[in-house]
Amino acid sequence: MPASHPFPMPVRDKRALYAGVTEEIAAVLEGEPDRIARMATVAALLRQAFNHFFWVGFYVVDPARPGELVVGPYQGTLGCLRIAFGRGVCGVAAESRQTQIVADVHAFPGHIACDSRSQSEIVVPVFNQLGDLIAVLDVDAAQKAAFDQIDAQCLDAILKATFSSDAFTAPA
Ligand code: SME
Repeated sequence: MPASHPFPMPVRDKRALYAGVTEEIAAVLEGEPDRIARMATVAALLRQAFNHFFWVGFYVVDPARPGELVVGPYQGTLGCLRIAFGRGVCGVAAESRQTQIVADVHAFPGHIACDSRSQSEIVVPVFNQLGDLIAVLDVDAAQKAAFDQIDAQCLDAILKATFSSDAFTAPA
């Protein structure tokens, strides 16, 4: 069960929770090279740490279909399977390689509604050790404006620590 805490969370509490979950992820994954195991662990521990993380998981760059993301490890209700680069929040994050913070998903052109309860969203790109995009991390909340620059910074730090030594390169 996710932790229970007020929403919106005071900045200090949010930073403290991120510090704790960052340490936990590093400890659990020490010595584990498998990418799926790493993604599954990040999704599970983030979902457990923040009770407003309604959906958290990865859309992975599909080496078999250029320009397409395919759903990876996630926690939450059923996610759509495939997203083209440039489509929806995930596709825009993948194409631009930039974090997207969306305060109101209904105002985002082309937003893909996997679950109608989702109101706001953050999507952070994930890179391997060569700097290639390997996936995006998508976090959805059932409240509007749930994500800010603290989430962007802390999630990015977790993703860098977890995947920047990833040696896998998609075949050309
Ligand atoms: N809302 C996302 C799609 C993925 S789901 O929310 C799990 C988007 O617009 O890219």
